[in-house]
Amino acid sequence: MKATITISANNSIGKIDKRIFGSFIEHLGRAVYGGIYEPDHATSDDMGFRQDVMGMIKELNVPVIRYPGGNFVSGYNWEDGTGDKAKRPRKMELAWQSIETNEVGIDEFQEWAKRAGSEVMMAVNLGTRGANDARNLVEYCNSDTDTYYAQMRKANGFDKPFGIKLWCLGNEMDGPWQICSKTPYEYGRIACETAKLMKWTDPSIELVACGSAHINMPTFMEWERTVLRECYEHIDYISLHNYYGNPANDTAAYLASSVEMDKFIKQVAAICDEVKFEKESDKTVNLSFDEWNIWFHSSEQDKEIPKWQVAPPLLEDIYNLEDAVVVGSLLITLLNNCDRVKIACLAQLVNVIAPIMTENNGRCWAQTIFYPFMYTSQHGRGTTIRSFCSCDSYDTEKIKNVPYVDSAAVISDDGNEITIFAVNRSLNEACDLNIATLGYDDYSLTQHIAMEGDDLKAVNTADSPDNVIPVEKAISENISLSPHSWNMLIFKKN
Ligand code: AHR
Repeated sequence: MKATITISANNSIGKIDKRIFGSFIEHLGRAVYGGIYEPDHATSDDMGFRQDVMGMIKELNVPVIRYPGGNFVSGYNWEDGTGDKAKRPRKMELAWQSIETNEVGIDEFQEWAKRAGSEVMMAVNLGTRGANDARNLVEYCNSDTDTYYAQMRKANGFDKPFGIKLWCLGNEMDGPWQICSKTPYEYGRIACETAKLMKWTDPSIELVACGSAHINMPTFMEWERTVLRECYEHIDYISLHNYYGNPANDTAAYLASSVEMDKFIKQVAAICDEVKFEKESDKTVNLSFDEWNIWFHSSEQDKEIPKWQVAPPLLEDIYNLEDAVVVGSLLITLLNNCDRVKIACLAQLVNVIAPIMTENNGRCWAQTIFYPFMYTSQHGRGTTIRSFCSCDSYDTEKIKNVPYVDSAAVISDDGNEITIFAVNRSLNEACDLNIATLGYDDYSLTQHIAMEGDDLKAVNTADSPDNVIPVEKAISENISLSPHSWNMLIFKKN
């Protein structure tokens, strides 16, 4: 099979907001306890944060991390995770039917995020709580005033405000599984009023309103339209969430997941613009794809996990090579939509549907999906160049004309590096790739890294952490993309 990717100078999609390489830590399963935090672990620092895990997170170069949920946030009292640890309540956590000890809360997490080199994207509870608790939390985190919550933070040992700039107005409020879910109108109203109070407390913050919980929600689009009509002028982004999977073991269809992601993004962007024109507003609401990943491997095993435990091993998907290829192509889609998607969070980061896994009091290792995320995060910074790929296509039951090659091209801010990310979706044919560079003639290929292999179901484990890792390909005139592979091609200015 042959394909040609054409890129031309002065034809870009847009500047990439680095926050599209965000991630997510929820109080769920072993993400916090036994994941980022384990005071008895040999590598833990003065605050109980595992440094082996921290080191791996730094490799991923994650600029923003959403916290503390997810479904968890809709039943959470943020005050429970502040102040003297000995006095913090142990609670029944209804979203995941676990026990929350509150040993970690915003006091600790904001410090952990600083140490990890990331910003916090904080979610407020619009399930069991509302506008008043949300504005109190903004005051606690961001104010330097001589007032109750700012002083409470100081009394807890944090003189300087945390300075959290990005906030989510609840989580998946359309989902019947959500604690205190809402109709679109109910949510639109509470989002609007909460947004006003939060921004009056700190005008510098940015707010994300909840979009649909996934693309197959029965109210998808009606939800976005109604919510945006209620709160358009008070928010900055609307969220998208979607998880992909291969439960039917139809790999050709699974590898086409990014076509669905692309359509989802364009549908939500179109609704934002429809409401913008309806309101004759000058403001553009952009997109925060703040939950995306693969999630299906752990569905059955999770049904067997007893309730009301501290940090049960929930949502511990073990990812294989085909998952890594799909994650690589979902990242390609995010890059190609960088004009509208300004924030995206790989959900999640440690143990829970995560690129990083840990043993309690033991080792940590990288799952297959760690690598395409790491390389795209490291080299997908700058501007996405509009690229055209001519290649054959195939049909799946749901989607017609899926191109065999999925690609994105990024030029670094200093112009010295052009990186092409490419996935070959063909299950059995290698692809001879030609790259036509119009106006970018003085660049040469210096590195070709691939995630490839014969066994699409191969995984990494604590004992075999290097079973599926990227390979460095020989550089030659003829670029070949192996069947069902993810590739990164770096061109440097001569
Ligand atoms: O990321 C796991 C869960 O998926 C989140 O808690 C929720 O928002 C979504 O349904």
